[in-house]
Amino acid sequence: MKRKMYVAVWGISLLTACSIPKAETPEWFENAVKTSSHQLLYMAEQLKDVPDTVCFPRSTKEDGSYRLENAKDWTSGFYPGSMWLAYELAGDEVLASEARKYTNRLKDIQYYTGNHDVGFMMFCSYGQGIRLKPEPGDKQILVNTSESLCTRFDPQVGLIRSWDFGDWSYPVIIDNMMNLEMLFWASEQTGNSKYRDIAMAHADKTLKNHFRENMSSYHVVSYCVPSGNVESKGTFQGYSDSSAWARGQAWGIYGYTMCYRFTQNPAYLDAAHKIARFIIDNRPSENDYIPYWDYDAPGIPNVPRDASAAAVTASALFELSGYGTDEKLGKEYFDYAENILKQLSSPDYLAKEKENNGFILLHSVGSIPHNMEVDTPLNYADYYYLEALKRYKDLKKFN
Ligand code: GLY
Repeated sequence: MKRKMYVAVWGISLLTACSIPKAETPEWFENAVKTSSHQLLYMAEQLKDVPDTVCFPRSTKEDGSYRLENAKDWTSGFYPGSMWLAYELAGDEVLASEARKYTNRLKDIQYYTGNHDVGFMMFCSYGQGIRLKPEPGDKQILVNTSESLCTRFDPQVGLIRSWDFGDWSYPVIIDNMMNLEMLFWASEQTGNSKYRDIAMAHADKTLKNHFRENMSSYHVVSYCVPSGNVESKGTFQGYSDSSAWARGQAWGIYGYTMCYRFTQNPAYLDAAHKIARFIIDNRPSENDYIPYWDYDAPGIPNVPRDASAAAVTASALFELSGYGTDEKLGKEYFDYAENILKQLSSPDYLAKEKENNGFILLHSVGSIPHNMEVDTPLNYADYYYLEALKRYKDLKKFN
């Protein structure tokens, strides 16, 4: 009797398993992955004769030609990183070998101490390589890079210094939150808590001084040395000192969500929720999820959008949707991020194959105050778009 029941139940399970369709991959998603992989490979082909040392594609110049940088540019890791992510999504081995080729060009950056951006540069390239196709020596390179980043931490000030240019005594920009991921990783890998301690000191003091009442953030906060008191609060790439520069808000939500992942510190989670609220409540309109370049830009709606801010936000919101106990809020974040991805994957933002110099997304903004990269593709928009697609795929459990 027992056996009969077992067979019957097994039969039903089998029937059910066969009749439930596997998670269908939506057409827009398949098209996004296909277009992205083709674009990245098209770009590699276009650039194959450029000398390695100056071949870090960043964006498109006004005349339509490539803006290429050297390894020390803050964006140098995003093209290899994008190829790693596209490899993960599409499985094309050529993407992996191009990703490795471009990643290895960054090797010397492990000793570079000239800015705070080495986290972006190395964790988005080597970090993805370690995850997907590690090679001997990769990990040590990232640990050495973490050491280099720590040289920019002044214990008296209690923060990592962002830049060495300008009139500020000790500038710290909200973007710097993104570099902390590598430090958390380095502590986990080495067992040395130094990197994590520095990351948390930086995140704590940034939380204290970078945010306004409504949890929008200043771009640049400068500190007095050695007191560590605030010297000034303002902007470099936003519309005004008191405005909310779109990408800054995106770096903030991503940064505090990521810090919560490593620390489980509720203060970071609370910050991420509040920044999310600001972003969601201040979207352009009910069904429009791509922010203008600055939430306070004069002339809205006739000003450029920033697809890069949207892509970073989507990736962060997918992660944040899994934290906390409020299911309704989690769903709101997930839906919002999905809507960003759908909008970015529409012809309004997704380039046509073999156009846009091989960059994936249209319509980002580098810096309007410097009249630089206004309404252009940007390699970091592409990187975070791909990361968001990957996170979406993982959450939806597509085959
Ligand atoms: N980290 C520089 C920028 O977001 O433009």
